[in-house]
Amino acid sequence: MNQRAIRFYDDHPAPATMLEEVLQGLASRPRRIAPKFFYDERGSRLFDAICELPEYYPTRTEMGILESCADEVARLSGPDGTLIELGSGASKKIRLLLEAVRPRRYLGIDISREFLRQSVQRLAHDYPWLEVQAACTDFMQDFELPGGAGEGKKLAFFPGSTIGNFEPHDALAFLQRVRRLVQPDGALLIGVDLKKDPQILHAAYNDSAGITAQFNLNLLLRLRDELGAELDPQGFRHRAFYNTARGRIEMHLISRRAQDIRLLGRRFHFEPGESIHTENSYKYTLEEFHVLARGAGLRPRQAWLDSAHLFSVHYLSVVSRSRPRAA
Ligand code: AVJ
Repeated sequence: MNQRAIRFYDDHPAPATMLEEVLQGLASRPRRIAPKFFYDERGSRLFDAICELPEYYPTRTEMGILESCADEVARLSGPDGTLIELGSGASKKIRLLLEAVRPRRYLGIDISREFLRQSVQRLAHDYPWLEVQAACTDFMQDFELPGGAGEGKKLAFFPGSTIGNFEPHDALAFLQRVRRLVQPDGALLIGVDLKKDPQILHAAYNDSAGITAQFNLNLLLRLRDELGAELDPQGFRHRAFYNTARGRIEMHLISRRAQDIRLLGRRFHFEPGESIHTENSYKYTLEEFHVLARGAGLRPRQAWLDSAHLFSVHYLSVVSRSRPRAA
């Protein structure tokens, strides 16, 4: 295969200090482990399997929405700009957008170096007309756009309702950061899961094949195999439920009995029924999300929904704050 040159910017983000974070999370009340630790190789494969489940509607629903709105997105954004994918995955979703929007340049941003390298190589191979760049960096931190990508109109893409993992306050900070990234005349295309009948939500995170349970419990295998924790993975069960008051799905690992987890010479005791909180997945109404976007200096220009109103895709453009200076 003839490999095209790809500009690869490496910020050398500090590898997630899993041990420290896990120790801290197990020591705190309520106990917690951050959802980013789901995604080792097995966890990523389990997540791919979740996306195919009959009960897990978000992936296929968002894909359907993107298929029908891609041309409109192209009209809103215009050609020849830079398409920036946040959390690059070389998924079907970005390909659909690339073909409709026809940007001059693609910039994939991801914290996972090898994954990013492979995905941008495939894109460069498949789209000879596209200038491909990659930046290995944590886009939650401040960073400079690599040369070239700073010029011209920018469209950021953040699919999958990953924004739901953030606490609303952090979601606001994230949107503000994206606004700075694409200013002065850019936009953000973002997928957001909607509030709906709790039974539909419940089923999506409690699938009958038990894949989501395996995904959640995989955290314990990582603790045991990577961090050397002494624990019984069978001693915990998966629990997911919709917290109506907070508007979020919560995932927990529940201790089936009195037991200890030992890690780095420390002992964490669990009573029966005690939990480790592993994920929040916030759901928004259209209005709630619009308020959040406006608060971050982004103007809702268009929202597309599927016919059952399960999921939404939003096109938000930068609100320009600078006014022409009076002479
Ligand atoms: C990747 C965060 C969007 O919240 O639906 C799926 C992760 N967790 N099933 C979601 C997840 C359990 C997913 N996000």
